[in-house]
Amino acid sequence: MSRRMLVAGNWKMYTTSGEGATLVQDVADLLEMLDVEAEVAVCPPFTGLKAVSTLIELDHLTIALGAQDCHWESEGAYTGAIAPRMLADLRCSYVIVGHSERREYFGETDETVNKKVRAVFDAGMTPIMCVGESLAVREALETEAFVRQQVRIGAEGLTPEQAARLVVAYEPIWAIGTGRTPTPEAANDVARSIRATLGAVYGPPVAMQVRVLYGGSVKPENAKMFFEEPDVDGGLIGGAALKADSFVDIVKAAR
Ligand code: 13P
Repeated sequence: MSRRMLVAGNWKMYTTSGEGATLVQDVADLLEMLDVEAEVAVCPPFTGLKAVSTLIELDHLTIALGAQDCHWESEGAYTGAIAPRMLADLRCSYVIVGHSERREYFGETDETVNKKVRAVFDAGMTPIMCVGESLAVREALETEAFVRQQVRIGAEGLTPEQAARLVVAYEPIWAIGTGRTPTPEAANDVARSIRATLGAVYGPPVAMQVRVLYGGSVKPENAKMFFEEPDVDGGLIGGAALKADSFVDIVKAAR
């Protein structure tokens, strides 16, 4: 079963809509000169989605659009929140769900993550469900048990078709924005364990189709090492996605 690699940029709370449009245009210009095998996605802040979406459509760019979060309801009195169907309307294909920054600063739990995962599928998009352990969990040697639990709850109640389309991003919290990373082998062990967890619920053929990304201090210098691992199907890139050349160098590593 061959899975197409995915390299997604999570722009977090960076870029105005104008800056985002410039960044995606720069990325597209660099990609045009390459024979790219991986699927490439960018996830701007909500306010940048419209401008980037318009650019992608008008210029026929082969870049997928993603959002960084959403609510699980399709509409309602939830001041400040964004519904999945509003994102689908802007031609988003992906929504990042359960990023550790959402869990830490905005009180997301495995249960809210699960509601969002299902809502994103129901709106016809694909969730990029983030999981990953803290340093304390890692040092207690409980990483796999912790991540398995996040995956089990986060991916509960999907149809087999949905489960097969799921993207899981393994992002150890201690590796995000720190310049520290697990070894590629250690990242692969957790990726394999994520796949096995989904396999236990949805069956091995479904689990073989799930794409598992690695995220956390991925740079042009280390991307290839992670992408060569058999259970790592690409990356979720933070800081290095904010510069067109470093992001595209990471895309180049995904073949
Ligand atoms: P960095 O690549 O900046 O470590 O961020 C990773 C991340 O959180 C992507 O979602």
